[in-house]
Formats: sequence, structure tokens, C-alpha cells
Amino acid sequence: MSKIISGFSKLTKQEKIDWLSKNYFNSQPEIIKTLQQYWNADQKLQQLHDDFIENTISNFYLPYGVAPNFVINNKDYVVPMVVEESSVVAAASKVAKYWSSRGGFKAEVISTTKIGQVHFMFSGDEKELKSYFEKQKENLYRATASITKNMEKRGGGILDIELKNKTDKLENYYQLHVTFETKDSMGANFINSCLEAIAKEFRNDEIEIVMSILSNYVPNCTVKASVSCKIDELGGQDPQEFAKKFYQAVKIASVEPYRAVTHNKGIMNGIDAVVLATGNDFRAIEAGAHAFAAKSGSYSSLTHCTIDNGIFKFWIEIPLALGTVGGLTALHPMAKLSLEMMQKPTAKELMQIIATAGLAQNFAALKALTTSGIQQGHMKMHLMNILNQLEATATEKEQMVSYFEDKTVTHSGVVERFNELRNQ
Ligand code: MEV
Repeated sequence: MSKIISGFSKLTKQEKIDWLSKNYFNSQPEIIKTLQQYWNADQKLQQLHDDFIENTISNFYLPYGVAPNFVINNKDYVVPMVVEESSVVAAASKVAKYWSSRGGFKAEVISTTKIGQVHFMFSGDEKELKSYFEKQKENLYRATASITKNMEKRGGGILDIELKNKTDKLENYYQLHVTFETKDSMGANFINSCLEAIAKEFRNDEIEIVMSILSNYVPNCTVKASVSCKIDELGGQDPQEFAKKFYQAVKIASVEPYRAVTHNKGIMNGIDAVVLATGNDFRAIEAGAHAFAAKSGSYSSLTHCTIDNGIFKFWIEIPLALGTVGGLTALHPMAKLSLEMMQKPTAKELMQIIATAGLAQNFAALKALTTSGIQQGHMKMHLMNILNQLEATATEKEQMVSYFEDKTVTHSGVVERFNELRNQ
């Protein structure tokens, strides 16, 4: 029997769940119980979340952790992180503390402009198009006046509108390439509204508008975060050897795409966690970051390292289109709390904090990878996850952790030892 349904969105939440349960879960009562378990008792709060998206039937929790001891440009921060992967918050906290006694992190915003495009087809004479564009340019700005008014008061708006000929790539393809400054807002809605108004004004019988949309590629909205110290101050048993291997690890990621993707994934562990905690759009950040990593034509590392005259330097340069106003930032109580926790940063400050979180995460990963290996830390968390599944008591957990101190953690091994312990 077909399970295609019309008018699903019009059903009440209960009706949606009933339909789902009947059609996809053989009406098992546990399904409804699991969904209900995550409903918020506070009706108003639940309604708020229900309204973020469509067809909401429950909430999906992710852990919210904090990483203290970040010193960025001589200011202390505790950084909120939303992430499901164990060790990420621990790594951030550890590295933050480590660098806090070595001058902390330095961060600077390099640029803040964003791009939107009106893509269109035109088969006539390019010269005529150019002259039409020049004549229309003022009108294009004017067409967005009601949208840009408030943004301009905040120092933002449309910085430039350019006509670009892309016919070498695709027959008849041109675009209006528009540069925006959106200050403390991520600006997606603002940019898209401006573009649609521009397209409406620009179209004529010969100009066939295909679409108007912002670009998530923001190579001119970038931030740099860095750490540096004398090699001898890196600590450990052999700081020279550590610096050398660390440097090699970064170099490998800069020349080898297979490694670069994993290297950058580790960076995004830190970045996405703070992006999520602040109600920002992590898909936009991800897309922009990876495109930036591939800007040379070969996918490469987002971080860089040098060792010169006994000085170790490690930094990240990354595009981050973020908002500290608008979107979910004020609407989601936890996003609001995250921003308050970081002392209500401007978008530029948030760029600095988030780039730092990415750099810290990469430092932790490379430090582990080039010394003890990554599994040591992971395995302890893996063990705890299995023990939680087994509903181990605090004493049992202690005994198990001590037993597995010098052994490899496998699911079956843990279950076996746990059963032995319980049967003793
Ligand atoms: C795991 O989530 C992230 C790492 O693989 C990153 C890296 O290899 O650099 C540890």
C-alpha cells in the first residue's frame, strides 16, 4: 500500500505522529513514548521550537558543553560548544589552558564582505548590455532603498554591483555580482531580499533572470587566529622534536588532500560546535570553509605552521560568515545564553572566537596524532559510553577504567569484563 500522503503539514502534531506510527512503526507504542520523552514541559518553549521548522514532532538533543580558559587578544573567554563527539570539548579546554600560559591566542578579522549574485541569460550584444547596466545602476541601488535603510544606519549595505560576463563558461550566461557589508548579522535574508529587488528592476525582455541568491563562498569575510612561542616553551620531553613533527603534520595536510580533509574535519569539530551553540548556520560555514580550502585548485589545510629562528608559529585563516543579531541568535534561548557567556560579541569578535576554537581543536588533534596517537583519549570516552549503555554504577565505572588502563577497549571486551565483574 502506498504511503504517499497529501496535506501532511496540515495535520496536528498528534495526527502526524499517529500517521507515522501506523505507517512506519507498526503502531508500536514505544515510538510515541520516545518522541514524547523529548517534548518540553514548558508549552511556550516547545511551541518556539516547533515553529523553527516544519512538521515538528519532537526535539533532538545535542550535548551543550563549555570550554573554559580561552585567552583571545588578552581577553578571557569560556566557549560554549554543541557537539555529539566525545573528546572535542576536553581537547578545546586542554589546549585553551595550555596556550593561556604562553601568551594566549591572537586573532584579527581580515575582511567582512559577502557576495550575492543575480544569474541571468542574455543573447544580445554585450556592449548594449553594458550600457544598459551602467544606465540602470543607480536604479538598482534605489530599488533596494527600503531594504537597505536600516542596514545602512548600522554602517552596512550594498558596497558594489558589477556586471560579469561568464559566457566563456556557459553560453549567454551573465551575472550581477553584488558585494555586501552586513555588520553584525549573517545577512542571508537581507542579501537575498536585495538581490530579488535588484533582479526585478534589472529584468527586461532580453534579460532572462535565472535566479538571485547569496553565495556561501565568502573568501572576503575571513579571520586569522594564531599562537606562537619559543620552541623551548612548548614544554614536554623534547620540544624541538615535537615542533618538528607538528610542522611536518601541517605540511602533509597542505600537500595531501586525503589528509587535508581529515585535518580540516578536526578543525570543523571546534568551529561547528560554537557555530551551533550560537544559533548560526553551520552548513553555510562548512560549505564556505571547504571551498576556501580548495581555492588554490587543490584541497589543502586551513591551518599553517612555521618554525623560524626558534619560534613556533601556528595559525588558521578561514572565512566565517556569522551573525550575533538576527536569525536564531536572539530567538533560541540557548543561543542567546551562548552569546551572553561570551560577553555579547560583535560578529567580528565571534569570528575571532570561532576561528580560535578551530585552531585549538587542530592543535589538540595534531599534538595527539604526532605523539601518543588519537585513540588513547578516544578510548576512555568510548569506554564510558559503553559503560553508560550498560548502566554501570560509579564504582563499577571506576573499576572498569582502571582495568582498561593498559588494554584495548572493544565493545565485546568491555561487555565481557563487565559481566564478569557483576557476577563476582
Ligand atoms: C576526529 O573527529 C578528528 C581528527 O581525525 C582530526 C585529525 O585527524 O586531525 C582527530
